[in-house]
Amino acid sequence: MTQIRAMTERDVPSVSRLLGESWRRTYSPIIGAETTARISDDYHAPQKIAAELADDNKMSFVAERPDGSIAGYAMAEMDETGNVMLDRLHIDNSEFGTGLAADMLHAVLAAHSGIPSIALEVIEGNDRALAFYRKHGFEVVERRPSSHGAEGHASFIMRRPLPRA
Ligand SMILES: CC(C)(COP(=O)(O)OP(=O)(O)OC[C@H]1O[C@@H](n2cnc3c(N)ncnc32)[C@H](O)[C@@H]1OP(=O)(O)O)[C@@H](O)C(=O)NCCC(=O)NCCS
Repeated sequence: MTQIRAMTERDVPSVSRLLGESWRRTYSPIIGAETTARISDDYHAPQKIAAELADDNKMSFVAERPDGSIAGYAMAEMDETGNVMLDRLHIDNSEFGTGLAADMLHAVLAAHSGIPSIALEVIEGNDRALAFYRKHGFEVVERRPSSHGAEGHASFIMRRPLPRA
């Protein structure tokens, strides 16, 4: 069974690779292949991913298959005011539609129990992700004409309130 667990340093090369592939597949049609590759090669270099792992405000998770391969990755970040952003959620495309992404989202939410809501940013045009997040209780609360993560392409901020247990 695929297991969701906290990411460790050993996972850095696999996560870097997964992000590079997922970004190219998802964002090339939206922001162009060259821009996508340039941003991803910079943001997702193994040393940057490793540095994020050491950041106490960030929590990173992976989904590991029984054969040890990495099927998914999620990272959430808490700012100084206690707001939590789901910064990344990427699964291998062989896992699309399997429920793994929902399991990873729930792992992130469970790790942040007690917070009133969680937010994220989706690039306009990433319709599969928008549909996924809507299905899981997120609503668009803001449209940004120029996102910082994708060189000026428009984005949506989505938020999901979290009921107290
Ligand atoms: C976003 C992601 C984690 C969702 O996981 P998933 O397993 O693909 O999600 P699901 O299949 O459960 O849900 C996607 C929904 O979008 C629908 N969908 C697929 N393509 C679509 C499109 N072009 N337009 C609208 N809806 C679409 C699917 O039918 C499905 O809805 P349904 O379950 O009602 O049929 C995954 O697709 C992924 O890793 N994408 C690449 C990285 C990414 O974009 N991450 C989000 C960054 S913010």
